[in-house]
Amino acid sequence: MTTPGQLIEVQGLKTFFKVREGTVRAVNGVSFTLERGRTLGVVGESGCGKSVMAQSVMRLVEPAGKIVEGKINFYRSAAQNGHEATVEVVDITSLDYRGVEIRRIRGGEIAMVFQDPMTSFSPVHTIGDQIAEALILHQDMDKKEALERAIETLHRVGMPKPDRVVNNFPHQLSGGMRQRSMIAMALSCNPSLLIADEPTTALDVTTEAQILELMKELQASLGMAIMFITHNLGVVAEMANEIIVMYLGKIVERADVVSLFDDPRHPYSRALLRSIPRVDKDTGERLESIEGIVPDPYSIPQGCPFHPRCPSNIPGVCDVIEPPLVTIGARQVYCHLYQQDGTAR
Ligand SMILES: Nc1ncnc2c1ncn2[C@@H]1O[C@H](COP(=O)(O)OP(=O)(O)OP(=O)(O)O)[C@@H](O)[C@H]1O
Ligand SMILES: [Mg+2]
Repeated sequence: MTTPGQLIEVQGLKTFFKVREGTVRAVNGVSFTLERGRTLGVVGESGCGKSVMAQSVMRLVEPAGKIVEGKINFYRSAAQNGHEATVEVVDITSLDYRGVEIRRIRGGEIAMVFQDPMTSFSPVHTIGDQIAEALILHQDMDKKEALERAIETLHRVGMPKPDRVVNNFPHQLSGGMRQRSMIAMALSCNPSLLIADEPTTALDVTTEAQILELMKELQASLGMAIMFITHNLGVVAEMANEIIVMYLGKIVERADVVSLFDDPRHPYSRALLRSIPRVDKDTGERLESIEGIVPDPYSIPQGCPFHPRCPSNIPGVCDVIEPPLVTIGARQVYCHLYQQDGTAR
């Protein structure tokens, strides 16, 4: 089902907001790749740039924000019919955000689900019409065909009575059902990438578990890649193959799930993982919170942005020099504590 190889390659992405108080460096030099059919988890404290990074990929950054540097290469795979797929590379940052090309990508090849389905559904149109609209736009279907496909897709996401739900308005559904509908809308055009930004944060744990299970099943059958953004490290451990940890607009560590949870290397990743409850450890321990507060986004500290809160801060180094990328096996860490060969400094 999946074609091996790269799907998204982000290089040195910077997305800034100009506001009265100054410049918010929301995404401040981010690079990573995502392969077809894989799930990349994106974690980090509130305000570290997860959503703006995702909005940059969709070219949905609010007008005050601009992609000021970097590339987002999207590897579009075309021509199957038994032949080897040819791959076309589109740099999403170079597209006109209102143009034809980005509209083909947005909602068609790359789809997004959010925490609050009410922000992606219009309150005045039925669920069926809204899913059908995407299909008419992206798959060149007529209305009747599109409505049939909408019912089929709702059925696929486990919606009870999908032939009735198509005639419902969003407010007539429960939170969980709305989230299912949004996933149905996102998947209706068979995207090669689904970006999920806190898709289950607003749901109760039972419904959350069902939605996560559903996303995994759909991924297995449809072969799409997922970028899964969340605060919840338990959820990301469940969903992702690989994780990037972000802090103040930068990636501090990137690793496969097992390595990151077993042996986080960046002091920020360590702190973040220590701040989650462990059921398999001594429960007498108090949950640790990360020392200090996130600096305000207009004045990002020099050197390593985490140094003012870092227990391993090396004065004269961490507060002055931007940390280099260190590759340790399949893992990447941006930290002065490691030498280029991956050993401790
Ligand atoms: N429209 C905007 N105008 C100005 N600043 C913005 C705007 N949107 C986001 N920002 C700023 O960009 C930074 C990154 O925000 P972002 O929403 O990406 O964080 P996040 O990691 O998604 O946080 P959360 O976990 O709370 O969703 C923050 O400092 C935020 O205040
Ligand atoms: Mg966010």
